[in-house]
Amino acid sequence: MTAIDQYAVFGHPINHSKSPRIHGLFAEQTGQRLQYRAADVPAELFRSAVETFFADGGKGLNCTVPLKELAWQFADRLGDRALLAKAVNTLARQTDGRILGDNTDGVGLLNDLTINHRIPLRASRILVLGAGGATRGIVAPLLEQAPAQLVIANRTLEKAEAIADEFADLGELHACGYADLNSRFDVILNATSASLGGDLPPLADDILADGGCCYDLAYANQPTAFVNWGLRHGASLSLDGLGMLVEQAAEAFYLWRGVRPDTCPVIDLLNRERTVPPLRND
Ligand code: ATR
Repeated sequence: MTAIDQYAVFGHPINHSKSPRIHGLFAEQTGQRLQYRAADVPAELFRSAVETFFADGGKGLNCTVPLKELAWQFADRLGDRALLAKAVNTLARQTDGRILGDNTDGVGLLNDLTINHRIPLRASRILVLGAGGATRGIVAPLLEQAPAQLVIANRTLEKAEAIADEFADLGELHACGYADLNSRFDVILNATSASLGGDLPPLADDILADGGCCYDLAYANQPTAFVNWGLRHGASLSLDGLGMLVEQAAEAFYLWRGVRPDTCPVIDLLNRERTVPPLRND
């Protein structure tokens, strides 16, 4: 009998990761035989841990905070999405033994927004909060949707400006500080790491358009500070990033196995397992 194919997620911290559960559910649903585990790997041990994993026959890895840039440097080849994002969340061993790096975060977000929640992005006014790694992964796919406006607001203005410059060839986008936000947006995406500490960027009360949507790329069992901000400010939908997490995992699974899992039952199940139901205003 052949050995079972091995996959893993590396990150630090990693103890609350839902990825093993998600990939286990995908494997069960699609009849794929594989094992997927989570490993706590701090940045300084990343290279040796990845080399050992693949030397032992591992087929694919997910890399999460704080390892996505290191994974980008490690990959032998980069897919277009990873090239643009300068960050890798998925490594795949190819038949020639080389390691492909890809980034499935952007497509995961788009699939959750536009397919699962039918939030239109084309011709919408979109605001992204934050200018770190999470923002880098989503700017190119958002511009591809041809929004009416894409603005990146950040506490440290220079970081937002650097991203705006870097992606300027792909479409029009503007950088600003939070105090400079003086118009309304149809979709506000929180890509700061503030939520994780229960914190919020300083947002004016009047920046969400009537019927607008809020989406926090972070997720938690309880509503995040930004999800609550959206609800308090009249969002028609105020969601956290659980759907994005499942969607980016599905894209990684497809890259590794060539089979596309059905994400909806998995998102529904994980939502039911939370201590509170998903939040909606409609
Ligand atoms: P990630 O890879 O998760 O994006 P990161 O690269 O460290 O992490 O970026 C974190 C982002 O969250 C940054 O945009 C950061 O703002 P600064 O660039 O000004 O540091 C933002 N951030 C973190 N905590 C924040 C807070 N309390 N309020 C506002 N922005 C915050």
